[in-house]
Amino acid sequence: MRIFIDSANIKEIREINDMGFLAGVTTNPTLVAREKRDYFKVVKEICEIVDGPVSAEVISAEVEGMVIEAERLAEIHPNVVIKIPVTEPGLQAINILKQKGISSNATLVFSANQALLAARAGAAYVSPFIGRIDDIGNDGLAVLSDIIEIFDQYMIDSEVIAASIRHPMHAVAAAKIGSHIATIPYSIIKQMIKHPLTDVGIEKFLHDWRQAF
Ligand code: G3P
Repeated sequence: MRIFIDSANIKEIREINDMGFLAGVTTNPTLVAREKRDYFKVVKEICEIVDGPVSAEVISAEVEGMVIEAERLAEIHPNVVIKIPVTEPGLQAINILKQKGISSNATLVFSANQALLAARAGAAYVSPFIGRIDDIGNDGLAVLSDIIEIFDQYMIDSEVIAASIRHPMHAVAAAKIGSHIATIPYSIIKQMIKHPLTDVGIEKFLHDWRQAF
């Protein structure tokens, strides 16, 4: 499973990218709005830092608006992937973008059916929001598992991005299920790195070293 960061914060992205395991970035309108900066500049800066796909989302709800926004975003950098919500206009936009050679990431996916339709429409990536599915009392990981099984069964090329990851065990479960990618918030990546026994181990090694020398 490849690791993406779900963030629009340049400092966070740079810090995580420096550790060498980052394969891409996803943003969404909420994350970009939090930065209070020019959207296009933020996306451009992210693309200059991370060598991998960078998802930027459209705001329009209509096909034409989505395609116009997507074309403008795609001009920023060849690594930009356009995030499109799975709606009827969204699927039409994904289809048009595919024909124009613009890569898309089907977002706000909450069911295996939405994922299958988006993949068949031409989305390069599909993003089930596992945390938000859990939030309404359903099983986000079960939806992720169904999507992986269906894509494997029919040899569908679209890659699955486990999104809306809320805690480190979501990442472990997504990896075990076979998700191609997980997009993970900065704070959870930090939790994944940290283990109390690692800290205790370092402390003990240092203590023993200082006592001997
Ligand atoms: O970027 C999409 C997704 O990861 C959002 O997560 O935590 O707002 O449900 P969350």
